[in-house]
Amino acid sequence: MVDMDPQGNATMGSGVDKNSQIATIYDVLVDDISVSQAMVYAEESGFHVLPANGDLTAAEVQLLDVESKERRLQHALAKVLDQFDFVLIDCPPSLNMLTVNALTACEGVIIPMQCEYYALEGLTALMGTIDTIQNALNPNLKIEGILRTMYDPRMSLTGDVSTQLTEYFGDRVYRTCIPRNIRLAEAPSFGKPVLSYDRQSKGALAYLALAGEILRRNEFHEHADLVDDAYLQVP
Ligand SMILES: Nc1ncnc2c1ncn2[C@@H]1O[C@H](COP(=O)(O)OP(=O)(O)OP(=O)(O)O)[C@@H](O)[C@H]1O
Ligand SMILES: [Mg+2]
Repeated sequence: MVDMDPQGNATMGSGVDKNSQIATIYDVLVDDISVSQAMVYAEESGFHVLPANGDLTAAEVQLLDVESKERRLQHALAKVLDQFDFVLIDCPPSLNMLTVNALTACEGVIIPMQCEYYALEGLTALMGTIDTIQNALNPNLKIEGILRTMYDPRMSLTGDVSTQLTEYFGDRVYRTCIPRNIRLAEAPSFGKPVLSYDRQSKGALAYLALAGEILRRNEFHEHADLVDDAYLQVP
């Protein structure tokens, strides 16, 4: 899990203290520290984390006079790709040089969105950005999936937006929806991923279902079966 957001929420949520790290993604992007040196294993979560903290805010400006500034992350990750099945990159909420690095380094984008009117507007803007990056930097870039989150089927707007999404994006919209769930909101304050905080909660189960769906889409059928087993083991 590569954290590209200076807020460092994905780092903390994985159980890694963003302020006690010797090296972070900032050092990788700006000071040529290797990914292997900067990444840490998050025991609680069971995956490697390339952490971020507030230092990363400065990277944006510092990268401006660096050679191939859009490809810093791509080049750094290339050296460790053979060690991992999946690399997830958490992006900052706005478009900047960090987001450009992420979109250049990746194969696909997962777009989490709330089924609200303004979210559709944001999505249109994001599609434009993806198009630009595709043409200029990453011809292989695709939309991996659209994830409906904070999902509330009782609201009619949710249904309307949902219909529009499936009309436009077809089967790129994940079948799994993430419900609004208090346990998902609580987990980060314990510095835990929701699967260790409360794996029986509706939110955790939804994310397990999503993991299964993503694994199947990517032909990792055996792994998907394991996730299904985990799902079914919940009493
Ligand atoms: N399905 C959900 N139900 C309840 N709370 C949620 C849900 N998803 C996210 N939250 C809470 O909403 C807040 C923001 O979530 P999250 O960090 O995932 O959003 P984000 O879009 O990445 O935010 P940012 O744009 O700041 O990076 C967090 O406090 C999180 O715990
Ligand atoms: Mg975020």
